[in-house]
Amino acid sequence: MSFLMGIFLIGRVTFGIMFRAFMLSLLFRFGFSNDVPASFVFGDSLVDVGNNNYIVSLAKANHDPFGIDFGMPTGRFSNGKTVVDVINQKLGLDFSPPYLAPSTTGSTVLKGVNYASGAGGILNNSGEIFGGRINFDAQIDNFANTREEIISLIGAPEALNLFKKALFTVALGSNDFLDNYLTPLFSIPERLLVSPESFVATLISRLRLQLTVILLKKKALFQSCFYFVS
Ligand SMILES: *[C@@H]1O[C@H](CO)[C@@H](O)[C@H](O)[C@H]1NC(C)=O
Repeated sequence: MSFLMGIFLIGRVTFGIMFRAFMLSLLFRFGFSNDVPASFVFGDSLVDVGNNNYIVSLAKANHDPFGIDFGMPTGRFSNGKTVVDVINQKLGLDFSPPYLAPSTTGSTVLKGVNYASGAGGILNNSGEIFGGRINFDAQIDNFANTREEIISLIGAPEALNLFKKALFTVALGSNDFLDNYLTPLFSIPERLLVSPESFVATLISRLRLQLTVILLKKKALFQSCFYFVS
């Protein structure tokens, strides 16, 4: 890589991070600070808080040195909090619990649930070299279950009001490259058959569909709080 190219890439990455920080600060300034009842989280290892502890997978963070800031591993692929944990705290919410934890049921789910899974991606086959993981389609199915549970707990009108004001986070996409299209060796045949452009086009159309499904399920097309980390 040439020196100039390096500078260009660093510039792009820095810009990306600054742009996200800027969007988040706007979100807090003009957005919802006080009035967010719940936080629902979809994603990969960036925001998994322990779902993979409950499945057979090579993508696990239930051991040292993960979680050293908590004093023990929690299933987060991090020393401590994830970015969504920090945002939840700023909003006065508890950490959204992992969907697969047996205790994530009853009134707990009214404050939000985390569906994220390390090695998961937009496409069903992303991350398959890690064995078990919950990909975005399955995470959305799991959200549909929570949605039913919430409706049965507080009734449909209250539930829709809750979804309208809730924060929805989607943070995934890198496994669709790292553990799918760009997997060393395994993906050579796919790369011969499918151009990068058409792979990206597939990803985008799939993601568009998935986001639309979530929006329809939360029935609040014009009041959604979405941001995208990956
Ligand atoms: C992906 O998996 C989900 C189940 O998790 C299934 O409902 C969906 O049809 C699959 N999508 C494709 C394109 O195979």
